[in-house]
Amino acid sequence: MKFDNNVGRLQRLMAASIAGIGRRYAVLDALTLKSGDKIIDVGCGAGQLLGHLAKAVGETGQVLGLDPSADQLAQARAGCSEFTNISFLEKGADDTGLPDDCCDAATSTQALEYILDVDGALSEIQRVLKPGGSLVNISILWDHFRFHGAEEGLNNKIHDAFRAHCSHQMLPMELPGKLGRLGFTHMKDKSLAFVITRRDQNSPALYTENVMANFALTQGVSEEEVADWRSQLATAEKDGRFGFASFPVLTTAYLSS
Ligand SMILES: C[S@@+](CC[C@H](N)C(=O)[O-])C[C@H]1O[C@@H](n2cnc3c(N)ncnc32)[C@H](O)[C@@H]1O
Repeated sequence: MKFDNNVGRLQRLMAASIAGIGRRYAVLDALTLKSGDKIIDVGCGAGQLLGHLAKAVGETGQVLGLDPSADQLAQARAGCSEFTNISFLEKGADDTGLPDDCCDAATSTQALEYILDVDGALSEIQRVLKPGGSLVNISILWDHFRFHGAEEGLNNKIHDAFRAHCSHQMLPMELPGKLGRLGFTHMKDKSLAFVITRRDQNSPALYTENVMANFALTQGVSEEEVADWRSQLATAEKDGRFGFASFPVLTTAYLSS
C-alpha cells in the first residue's frame, strides 16, 4: 500500500490519535537513548516521533527520518522545522545509503510489515547499527486486527480484502528468528494490544475504517457492500456493540557487541 495522498492523510490522522501517542510513548520508553546518540526511524511517515527523539539525543546527537514517500517526508519536514539535529532520507529501508556501524539505535513503527523484502531491510538495519546498538520495532499482528459489529459474512469479506494491504501479516512472530540470524540478542516482546468501542475523532478506529473501505474498493468489493459495512458499524456503535481490536507488538533487540 502506498502512503501518498488520501492514504497518507488518513495515516497521519491515525498517528496523531490516541493509539499513535501510546505507541510513541512505548518506543521512547523502550529505547535507552542518551545525549549524542544517532538514531534512525525507519518508515518515519509524517515524523511524529522524530521531535521526541531529537530532544532525547540533544543537540550533539542526530536523528535520521527515513521514508520512501515524498508526501510523508514533506509533512515530516514541516513538523520538525524547529529542530536542527533531524535529517531526512527519501529512501527505502533496504538501501539507506548510510555507512556501516553509524547508528546507536534504530526504530520503526508499523513500517517493516509493508516491505516485501523485509529480510533485506533488517540486514540493512543490522549493517548501519553499531555493535551493541538497539532496535525497537512495532508491528501489528494483522491476523488479530478486527472490526466487530457488522454482519459476519460482509465483515469477513472486507477483512479478507484488506490482507493484501501489507506483505507480512504476522511479522512480530517471525522477528525473533530473523533477528537472531542477523546476530541480534536479548529479544523481548511486549503487547500493545488495545480495544476501542467508539469511532470518535481521537480514535484510530475511524481512520482505519476509512482506509479499509477505500482499500476494499481497490480489491473489487462493490461500493454498495463497502457502504453497507460502514453503515452497519455506525449502527453497531449507536447500539453499543461496536468494537475495534488491534494487536501491535513492540520488539526490542540488541546487536551483539
Ligand atoms: C503506517 S505508516 C507508519 C508511519 C510512522 N512510522 C508512524 O508510526 O506514524 C508506514 C510508513 O512506512 C513507509 N514505508 C513503506 N515502504 C517502506 C520501505 N520500503 N522502507 C521504509 N519505509 C517504508 C510508508 O511510506 C509509511 O510512511
